Amino acid sequence: MNILSFESSCDETAVAIVRDGREIVSSVVFTQIDVHKLYGGVVPEIASRYHIEKISQMTEECIRQSGLTEDQLDAVAVTAAPGLIGALLVGLNFAKGYAYARNLPLIPVHHIRSHVAANYLAYPELKPPFLAMIVSGGHSHIVLVKDYTEYEILGRTRDDAAGEAFDKGARVLGLPYPGGVHMDRLAKEGNPKAMQFPKVHFKDAPYDFSFSGVKTAIVNYVHNAKQKGEEFSVPDLAASYSDAITGILAENFLRCAREHHQKTLVIAGGVSANSMLREKLLAGKSPDQKLFMPPLSLCGDNGAMVGAQGYYEFQAGHVADLSLNALSAFSIENQLC
Ligand code: KG4
Ligand code: ZN
Repeated sequence: MNILSFESSCDETAVAIVRDGREIVSSVVFTQIDVHKLYGGVVPEIASRYHIEKISQMTEECIRQSGLTEDQLDAVAVTAAPGLIGALLVGLNFAKGYAYARNLPLIPVHHIRSHVAANYLAYPELKPPFLAMIVSGGHSHIVLVKDYTEYEILGRTRDDAAGEAFDKGARVLGLPYPGGVHMDRLAKEGNPKAMQFPKVHFKDAPYDFSFSGVKTAIVNYVHNAKQKGEEFSVPDLAASYSDAITGILAENFLRCAREHHQKTLVIAGGVSANSMLREKLLAGKSPDQKLFMPPLSLCGDNGAMVGAQGYYEFQAGHVADLSLNALSAFSIENQLC
C-alpha cells in the first residue's frame, strides 16, 4: 500500500510516499529555518504562508522522485494535530483536496504518534509494545506504546519542552535558531561538570519533567556574568546545561522503563538527535534492554513518519471524511477519528 503523506505542523513542509508503513519510496522536506532564524523563533503566519507556497510543487517533486504514477497511490495521510493551527490547516486542506480529487481514503495522523513511527522506517523488527520517550520542540513525553494506535502517557513536561529549553539556552549563548544542534556541537568541547544546574524531580510523579528552572538558571547566569563583566566559557556552559537537560530525560526514562519492566525502549523527536542524550541512554540501560534511536534524518519533522503511522491508522480503520479539522492541541492517547 502506497501512502502519500503530508507534514506541515510547524516550520517544515514535508511530503513523502511510504510503502506498507515501513519503506520510504520518496521523501522531500523543505525547512523554513533560514526564514524564522531572522526572528529567533517560528513566526506562525510566516510558516503558514511558506507552506502554501511550497506544498504543491513539493508534492509534484515527491511523486516524480518516487517513479510511481498517481494511480499507484492508495491513500493520503496528513498531520492533523497537534501543531500551529494555521500551518496544520495548509497541509490538511491540501491533503483533503488531493484525497477528494482522486477518491482516496484520508487518514489523519497525530504528530507525536508519527515521531514514534519514524523508528518503524529504520527498524523492521520494531513492533509494539514498547516504551517511548518523545522529545521535540513542543513536546516531552514518556509513553507506553501498547499497540500501533494505543498509547498511555506515563510522564510529561509540566512546563517547557526539552527542545524549547535547548533553544532558549542556545539563544542566551548567542547561538543561531534553532539552537539544539549548535548546543550539541559546542557541548562536545566543554566540561559538563563545570557548572551545576538545577534538576527538578517530582515526588508524586517521578517520570514528569520540568525545564523552566534550568532555563531560568542559564539566563540568570549569563546576564549576571555580563553585568559584572566576568568572562565565561561558552562550551563549558553548553556542556553543563546539556548535561542537566539530558540527565533529567535519561534518568526519568530509564527509571520508568525499570519500574514498568520494559525491555524495548524507543526515542523520537528532534531532541532525540542529541548526542549526550544518546550516550547517557546507552550507558544507563541494562544489557537486557534494547534501545532504538532513529537515524538523524528521521528525528526532525518529515513526511515519511506520517506515512508510517498513517499505514497503521488505516489498518485500524481510522479513516476520516472531509469534515476533518486540524487541532492545535490533542492528546496522543485520543483518537482523531
Ligand atoms: O521534532 P522537531 O523537529 O519539531 C517539533 O515537533 O517540535 O524538534 C525540533 C527541536 C528543536 O527545539 C531543536 O533545537 C531540537 O529539536 N534539536 C536538538 C538537536 N537537534 C534538534 N536538540 C538537542 N540536540 C540536537 N542535536
Ligand atoms: Zn515534530
